[in-house]
Amino acid sequence: MSLPTISNKPVPLLHQAQQLLKPRLHDGAISIDATVGNGHDTLFLAQHIAPTGRVYGFDIQAAAITATRVRLEQAGLLNCSRLILSSHAFMGEQIPTDVHGKINAIMFNLGYLPGADKQLITLSDSSLAALNSALDLLAPQGMLTVLAYPGHAGGATETAAVHSWSELLDQSRYSCTTHHSNHPTASAPRLLVIEKLN
Ligand SMILES: C[S@@+](CC[C@H](N)C(=O)[O-])C[C@H]1O[C@@H](n2cnc3c(N)ncnc32)[C@H](O)[C@@H]1O
Repeated sequence: MSLPTISNKPVPLLHQAQQLLKPRLHDGAISIDATVGNGHDTLFLAQHIAPTGRVYGFDIQAAAITATRVRLEQAGLLNCSRLILSSHAFMGEQIPTDVHGKINAIMFNLGYLPGADKQLITLSDSSLAALNSALDLLAPQGMLTVLAYPGHAGGATETAAVHSWSELLDQSRYSCTTHHSNHPTASAPRLLVIEKLN
């Protein structure tokens, strides 16, 4: 149980997450966007698993599901997506059992929906429940990324909870790395990258 490795890279953290996930994504791959928001990550995943793969997307806000549906529709990628108006805490029940243990990539982008109510944020309890389910759903060599923002109200508590959770992962099964932004401060975002080894 050691601390995650810390690195310091100039590339924006969201791009880092996408670059790291790309090798796991291919036509036919299965992925999850745990926080669809405005659908940018869902679109990224859909573009890389189409036409025969699938992306499952979760959000608790109907506006986020709608915005994401429109984005996917405009890109002609709605067919390979399943958008689910539900907390990601229930992803274990919402994702068909035949793909449990076969998910190649899972993205979490914590916090609030840009341009919407900043009170509606991801919360430690449901995020940790979802992260535990995500570990079970991942395929061997699958990857999970978590972009965490300690800067908003409630964000520091959640970020600390996710860090503590990651430090307790079984190192014989999971590798975990933390990437910090170019100007790391206590309130700057950070990216956790977890790979399922076996
Ligand atoms: C930072 S935004 C996601 C941005 C998104 N990935 C994008 O590309 O636009 C965080 C999202 O998490 C959603 N959220 C909050 N709690 C949630 C939960 N328990 N389950 C699923 N989504 C949740 C919010 O509604 C918000 O849309």
